[in-house]
Amino acid sequence: MNPSGGLQWHWRAWRSQALWRPTCEQISTSLAQLAPASSELLLIGASAGWMMPSRWLQGFAKVTTWDIDPLAAPLFRWRHAAALKASGSELVCRTGDALAGFGQLLGKHPDACIFFDNVLGQYRFHFKNPEQAAQKIDRVVRSLRGREWGALHEVCSGPVTRRCPGASWPAMRRRVQGSPDSAAFAQDWLTQLGAKGAWLDHLTSTVFEKDTVVSHIAWPFKPDYCHWLQIGWVRH
Ligand SMILES: C[S@@+](CC[C@H](N)C(=O)[O-])C[C@H]1O[C@@H](n2cnc3c(N)ncnc32)[C@H](O)[C@@H]1O
Repeated sequence: MNPSGGLQWHWRAWRSQALWRPTCEQISTSLAQLAPASSELLLIGASAGWMMPSRWLQGFAKVTTWDIDPLAAPLFRWRHAAALKASGSELVCRTGDALAGFGQLLGKHPDACIFFDNVLGQYRFHFKNPEQAAQKIDRVVRSLRGREWGALHEVCSGPVTRRCPGASWPAMRRRVQGSPDSAAFAQDWLTQLGAKGAWLDHLTSTVFEKDTVVSHIAWPFKPDYCHWLQIGWVRH
């Protein structure tokens, strides 16, 4: 059983397309603001790329996707291969654990930038013990020193007081990580999301270093349950 992907994820993503549209548009806007220096992309946790705009992928000469889910590669090709062919970009889809032997994988793609596509925040579901998950995330991030990379992941998630308000869903907010007013921002943002009760920490608070510019995005995962996403890019 894959706790962060597989059939259940594909089914939810397929039938939630309307609900998730504003979030996907904000992800697309945020990605469009990045200017990767590398022409090669390693996309980790690609799944079928349900929330990934083909337009951003078209900017790369080569895209290699990785996912442990055997359905991910054929579905990713189904959703994105035509667009990548149109832009003359090479697409290679791999099935397997990209984070076991991650250093070797990086070594095989010395010039590629890396994008963790909604996978690091899911890592706590792959371990019995959250501490082990946090250590794994930390090891992965430390191995990226000197590389160009980015990530989309959850900060936290939880129940909301009202059903997803659709068009009035909060606008994306861009901020510098670790700004002095971070606590006030978090409080205000959670209020905007309509957070109630206890929210789950997705163990990603140290993925981006202080001073990284990060976009914050609301994701109504279910009508009554929201994920707080962040997306950022790191150049060394
Ligand atoms: C929330 S889904 C990602 C969604 C995807 N980016 C999209 O737009 O559809 C998380 C994905 O990460 C994959 N995954 C989890 N651990 C992984 C690992 N170690 N290596 C590669 N993929 C992994 C899961 O199989 C799952 O498809």
